[in-house]
Amino acid sequence: MKIVKADYIYINGKYKKDYGILFNDKIEVVDIYNNLIFKYPDLDIIDGGENSVLYAGFINTHTHLEFSANKTTLKYGSFLPWLYSVIENRDELINSCDEVIIDNAINDMLKSGITSFGAISSLGLDLDACIKAPHRVVFFNELIGSNPQTVDSLYQDFLQRFEASSLYQDDLVTPAIAIHSPYSVHPIVLKKAISFAKNKKVPLSAHLLESKAERDWLDNSDGDFKEFFSSFFNQSKAVTTVDEFITSFDSYPTHFTHCTEANNNDLKRLKEKGHSVAHCPRSNRLLGCSRLEIEKLIDFNLPFSVATDGLSSNFSLNIFDELRGALMLHNKADINLLSKKLIDSITTVAGKVLGLKCGDIKEGYFADFVIIKLPQKPQREEDIALLTILHTKEVDKLYIGGKKYV
Ligand code: BEZ
Ligand code: FE2
Repeated sequence: MKIVKADYIYINGKYKKDYGILFNDKIEVVDIYNNLIFKYPDLDIIDGGENSVLYAGFINTHTHLEFSANKTTLKYGSFLPWLYSVIENRDELINSCDEVIIDNAINDMLKSGITSFGAISSLGLDLDACIKAPHRVVFFNELIGSNPQTVDSLYQDFLQRFEASSLYQDDLVTPAIAIHSPYSVHPIVLKKAISFAKNKKVPLSAHLLESKAERDWLDNSDGDFKEFFSSFFNQSKAVTTVDEFITSFDSYPTHFTHCTEANNNDLKRLKEKGHSVAHCPRSNRLLGCSRLEIEKLIDFNLPFSVATDGLSSNFSLNIFDELRGALMLHNKADINLLSKKLIDSITTVAGKVLGLKCGDIKEGYFADFVIIKLPQKPQREEDIALLTILHTKEVDKLYIGGKKYV
């Protein structure tokens, strides 16, 4: 066992001074540092040092590692041009995404303090890298397919990928299920996949209402998707409506990504049924999507995480870049309150969303934590969350399951 101390430890929404943590692979005791060294005088001590702040390890609930090769290929600015560019370059992007590229993406997350992440996997090509990663990984096997002629074979392929990831289930790897989106998954397989997730009791996630094009297509079978579905799938009508899609998830809490086009009714419904939202501010900006009105989510008490999405719609997987993006995007929010919400969104909230025993400095939870160093002494406690977001690019120390990785 070891003891770690820092100038401040973020516990339950408060920056606690003079605290320490006794840990092995789990957090054993959280107490005033002097009490700990009095009770356990002979243990190794890790001292965060001057101007240090200790947080539960950060959790990125939504990324796509298989698209990590994209840097200059995909077209940004508007959703459909982006989607066309994904389809045009998909094979090349996926084939050029080798182990080194995925490992680099994973390592960038680690350096920014990510100790757990949710990997949305379209093909299973990122499974090996996720298993080898030091992180706690929730491996979301993705289901896609709106064409009734091909959905059954796509469902079988999805099941095989799910079973392959299940072989590695342990404290670090959780198999899980992702539904691509309401416009791209046929309701027949959607219902099968949801009951499968419920039976297996695994995390469930889905992209939802990301673009105006998606809203127009689901509401009126019209808009920018009309031409897309007609030319690629010979489809003239959406396979589902927003209500039908959301209702399918009523009995199983799900993590819905984006929701930038969700209206008040949709958001209230998500709250009522125990769902949560993954907010990807930089991805939304780059794909020309609306701003997610997080003030509404806060009003409705609908939990949200902040996540990076993949490098197919972002320029880094550094979680601090994402938090700074959120801070700039939501320019009307009180800056200190927003900063704390953002920190909570990648710790406490994200841990609960992924069903992991981490994201909190709490006895019995995994000893997943990071220490960051502020460049100078903070003058006011209420500024610490903001200062952390502004001044951190990489963490100073990082532990997962009590083992040091940074
Ligand atoms: C589909 O399989 O229907 C689909 C796939 C990608 C984008 C849109 C639709
Ligand atoms: Fe995504």
